[in-house]
Amino acid sequence: MKKWFAVIGNPISHSLSPTMHETWLKQLDIDASYIPIHVEQNQLERAVESLKLLGCSGWNVTVPFKEEIIPFLDDVDDSAKGIGAVNTVVKSSNNKYIGYNTDGLGFIESLGPILPEYNVLLIGAGGAARGIAHAFKRKGYTQLTIANRTLEKAIVLVDELKTGQAWTLEEAENKLNKFDIIVQTTSLGMKNNDASLPIQLSRLKVNAIVADIVYNPLVTPFLEEAKKYNVRTVNGIGMLVHQGALAFSYWNGVKPDTEEIIQQLIEQIGGNYVNR
Ligand code: ATR
Repeated sequence: MKKWFAVIGNPISHSLSPTMHETWLKQLDIDASYIPIHVEQNQLERAVESLKLLGCSGWNVTVPFKEEIIPFLDDVDDSAKGIGAVNTVVKSSNNKYIGYNTDGLGFIESLGPILPEYNVLLIGAGGAARGIAHAFKRKGYTQLTIANRTLEKAIVLVDELKTGQAWTLEEAENKLNKFDIIVQTTSLGMKNNDASLPIQLSRLKVNAIVADIVYNPLVTPFLEEAKKYNVRTVNGIGMLVHQGALAFSYWNGVKPDTEEIIQQLIEQIGGNYVNR
């Protein structure tokens, strides 16, 4: 049977994943397709049963189903267990559907080569920060700092990680020169959202890397500000592409090219900006 893949979510019409996966399938001459599926809020269990019944080869999961899908899967890999969220479902050789999470690792891969001794600051303590924090920990970065508007949420995340430290945003702003990698994970700066900065960057270290997981707009106000200090900036499109590339490799046993598709997606979302 011809392989087929999907992405489920609500809403789903603006997802860039179909373009990305279809492009890779074509580039690698794999006879398969990848389709977006809109799932109604209260229909997730039925949708998952249908995907299994119809022999879907694997699918991505996006908002708002990443947590809710777990009980409907046959098993969950360690990459998703700690976070309690799945973004990729893989059909195993014995036809079991296993949940993985490639978001955090995808983000780390989007940074390019980084050193194990780097100090990492995550701004925000929501779902996106949790995925990235767990991935950094799995990669051996135990000295993470989580700074959040609501300190209690950062403390909960640090307790869950059993490593790192929780700070207020003010503390992060004041001691910013400690950090080699700074990751903006809040929704601030997203199109049509609050354009204010979570922290000021005047104490930025000279060689710091500043990343934002938001990719629309491609250059958020936070990255715009970081550019004034001539540091390397990384936009959110890399995370999108690298989480997809990992999912693709789990399904097809081959890692697709990431550079070309990054340029293609940037054009698709209307940017012409290259920042790494
Ligand atoms: P996601 O799953 O995308 O991470 P989330 O779980 O709702 O979304 O988390 C949103 C994050 O953005 C939180 O860290 C939130 O801070 P609080 O925990 O204090 O709510 C942060 N955030 C949202 N709006 C913010 C703002 N105006 N200033 C600073 N942080 C903000």
